[in-house]
Amino acid sequence: MQTFLTLDYEQETAIPPEEADVRTPEAYVRHFLAEFSDEGDAVFDPFAGFGTTLAVAEELGRVPYGVEYEADRAEFVRERIDHSENVVCGDALDVDLADEFPAFDCCLTSPPYMERSMGVNPFRNYADDSESDYETYLADLADLFERLALLANPDASLLLDVSNMKHAGEVTPLAWDVAEVASESFHFEGEVVVGWEGDEQDERDGGRYGYGYDHSYCLVFNAKKAD
Ligand SMILES: C[S@@+](CC[C@H](N)C(=O)[O-])C[C@H]1O[C@@H](n2cnc3c(N)ncnc32)[C@H](O)[C@@H]1O
Repeated sequence: MQTFLTLDYEQETAIPPEEADVRTPEAYVRHFLAEFSDEGDAVFDPFAGFGTTLAVAEELGRVPYGVEYEADRAEFVRERIDHSENVVCGDALDVDLADEFPAFDCCLTSPPYMERSMGVNPFRNYADDSESDYETYLADLADLFERLALLANPDASLLLDVSNMKHAGEVTPLAWDVAEVASESFHFEGEVVVGWEGDEQDERDGGRYGYGYDHSYCLVFNAKKAD
């Protein structure tokens, strides 16, 4: 596993201008799906967003499956891929995964991010009237990883696109904390540091990736959890 690489931060697909751009660039998904999945594999994304993982999976001859909470985003993804019937609009924390989806060979996802100081719930897409805290957020993610482990084929990979976050002089070590909770259900293979190049993100929160950073991670896990 190559543990450091640089990629151009470029979004290849237009999204509606009023939408916040929370996407994983296609180049990232292409790189990691090529390394951690094979043609014909089932690729799953429980936080499908605008469908980057699912569209690139299809482009590479994998079969995409996913969940997205926002109805307009789920519809956007359905229009973007041939396997539109494989996209469920719902709450990934609540959907009966075994009922809706076959076992996956690779799950590549980016959860909605949370800073320690936030009080709204990322899993309700930060709705003003929602409430949560960082501990609850991590516990919810831990539950989801436990359920994902039950849906994983024995040789499956779990790949997490995540970053730490700097805001108002404070760092939320999100990547470390997500790695810790995912490790409760999957075996941690290690992190890949992805350095971002290009001009597209220069103005976003003080870093080319955003959230004060020029780099993010791919946290790599496999389904063989040693007890
Ligand atoms: C970081 S974005 C993922 C972006 C995606 N990787 C892409 O490239 O388009 C996280 C996504 O998770 C969705 N989301 C938030 N809470 C969710 C939930 N409870 N169930 C499913 N999706 C959820 C958000 O609406 C958002 O689109």
